[in-house]
Amino acid sequence: MKLKIAVLSGDGIGPEVTQQAIKVLNAIAEKYHHVFNFKKAIVGAKAIEETGSPLPEETLKICADSDAILFGTVGDPKYDSNPNAKVRPEQGLIKLRKSLGLFANIHPLITYNSLIHRSNLKKDVVKGADFVIYRELTSGIYYGEKNLSEDGNTASDNCTYTSEEIDRISHLAFKAAHVRRKKLTLVDKANVLETSRLWRKRVLEISKIYPDVKVEFLFVDHAATQLILNPKQFDVILTENMFGDILTDEASVISGSVGLLASASVGQYHALFEPVHGYYPQKKGKNIANPLATILAVAMLLDHFKLYDEAENIRVAVEKSIDLNISTPDLNTTNHFSTTSVGNFISDFILDDENTFYNKHNIDLGQSTII
Ligand code: IPM
Ligand code: MN
Repeated sequence: MKLKIAVLSGDGIGPEVTQQAIKVLNAIAEKYHHVFNFKKAIVGAKAIEETGSPLPEETLKICADSDAILFGTVGDPKYDSNPNAKVRPEQGLIKLRKSLGLFANIHPLITYNSLIHRSNLKKDVVKGADFVIYRELTSGIYYGEKNLSEDGNTASDNCTYTSEEIDRISHLAFKAAHVRRKKLTLVDKANVLETSRLWRKRVLEISKIYPDVKVEFLFVDHAATQLILNPKQFDVILTENMFGDILTDEASVISGSVGLLASASVGQYHALFEPVHGYYPQKKGKNIANPLATILAVAMLLDHFKLYDEAENIRVAVEKSIDLNISTPDLNTTNHFSTTSVGNFISDFILDDENTFYNKHNIDLGQSTII
């Protein structure tokens, strides 16, 4: 398969981790005889510095011309602490989603048995949790009309949804539930919000097309508690943009593996893949950031193009690296490996069918993985 992949590595640790993900994609290309053409483009704070815009026209064009987008992270402390900033790195991502019609954010929660001890929740609560959040991404309060009165004392953000916007993501979520454990939970605030009542109405209507999927409704405040109390009850969670923003972050810390979670944002014509974690300015440039989430974002990218064996190969390699403790300091506090060595191990592992090249003794010592 031939794929054009736009690489928007962004800010903070973004460039370091995306570099490892590209390395892994190159290994997959070599092993399975694919051709992946990468085209780099700037976004976020770096793009503001260079062009004044967090999403320059050139970047948008490269993304629109590509089959998929690999996205790193965006952000800069100088904008985080300044509510008056007129342009912000995050606007690059928000504009990109809208411009390319990436209306569904697919956010799986996977638990890794070897990392459960890192979770703040009890092991029994977390073990086996396996759900996916479908978050609407191009409408709602994020994109509604915004106003600030002239005297600066009154502000508003409008939240609007149309049936069409609700329907298209609902179909994706129902289809996912149909091939999973056949349960869909719509999270809303239908006791207060008109938009939520429209979501309920449309989801009830659409559920008739998927009779094998059991539908459940939860108010968002209650859902926030249930995610912590009993995450195993969920299979597919469907929700609007803002609730989804909050719940995906909450979900990402349940399993103790935030450094391993990735998400996909898809539309009719385009798809973007990114790690769930932030841009970690404290770790930038130190070659210690965990590249696994971005590497697993690449596995989601391959799944999207139905390259299931290739994606599975990456997941096996990632799990192997964790089992062998070939990990960055966030996972391995004693003999940690660098971002680059973790990326090297995973791509070498993919290319080495016999799995003969690594030396367990050296790994335990935190040294080279090559004999
Ligand atoms: C996310 C992020 C973005 C969002 C920010 C960076 C604008 O938090 O992808 O969830 O709020 O959607
Ligand atoms: Mn968020």
